[in-house]
Amino acid sequence: MSLAHIQEVRPDTAVILGSGLGGVLDAFEAETQVSYAAVPGMSTATVPGHTGRLVLARGEAGRRVLLAQGRRHCYEGLSAFGVAASVRVLHELGVRRIVLTNAAGCLNPGFAVGDLMLIGDHLNLLGDSPLRGGPHFHDMSEVYDAGWRQAFQAAAESQGLNLREGVYAAVLGPQYETPAEVRMLRVLGADAVGMSTVPEAIQARALGMRVAGLSMLTNWAAGLGSSELHHDEVVSVGGAASGRLALLLRAVL
Ligand code: HPA
Repeated sequence: MSLAHIQEVRPDTAVILGSGLGGVLDAFEAETQVSYAAVPGMSTATVPGHTGRLVLARGEAGRRVLLAQGRRHCYEGLSAFGVAASVRVLHELGVRRIVLTNAAGCLNPGFAVGDLMLIGDHLNLLGDSPLRGGPHFHDMSEVYDAGWRQAFQAAAESQGLNLREGVYAAVLGPQYETPAEVRMLRVLGADAVGMSTVPEAIQARALGMRVAGLSMLTNWAAGLGSSELHHDEVVSVGGAASGRLALLLRAVL
């Protein structure tokens, strides 16, 4: 069982679960799980809301999915290369399709807190790349697979779910943005802001994997809402909405 079983099954699809989105696991039938600590190359997470484990589960029609609960972030002091280790490990385990999920601040006034946003494209504002020092000049003109995005939109429509689509800006953090930074991100064309996903997305594309990204809009970005931002709130809004995310993932994967 556990890692040996995952290696034997070689699931081709994985989902990385963001802050507070571990509830997605409840919608899948877990078959076996292994702590990141027992997976060579996988580093252990430190932020509340991020327990590090890989869960091999079955979804619709018994299809296998590998769910990775917990991720690392550049704000912890790791390089983008270090953060993207999880993707290299998943690739090594046979994964060729990866869904990256996250909790993000909402920038687009036409969207709402609690909405799910399909990532159409991203802005890498981390000042780092997982490919730094490695292979150069990968094409990034379609990081988030257009065909897969259509499949997500079609599934959302049949579930009566209003799935937004937009640009995700990755910033370093770990502090939340200032209102001036939020206005800058709007000018740059971002619809959501967060501190993750982009290192993994770049790494996965560079390995030739099919990539999708989904942001749970857990709060208005600074200056757009009326309250201060708290990580606990991000985690609890994410948790409350993870049921809808789970249904969507089940339908598409
Ligand atoms: N900003 C950056 N990262 C985030 C936010 C935010 O408002 N919400 C959740 N992750």
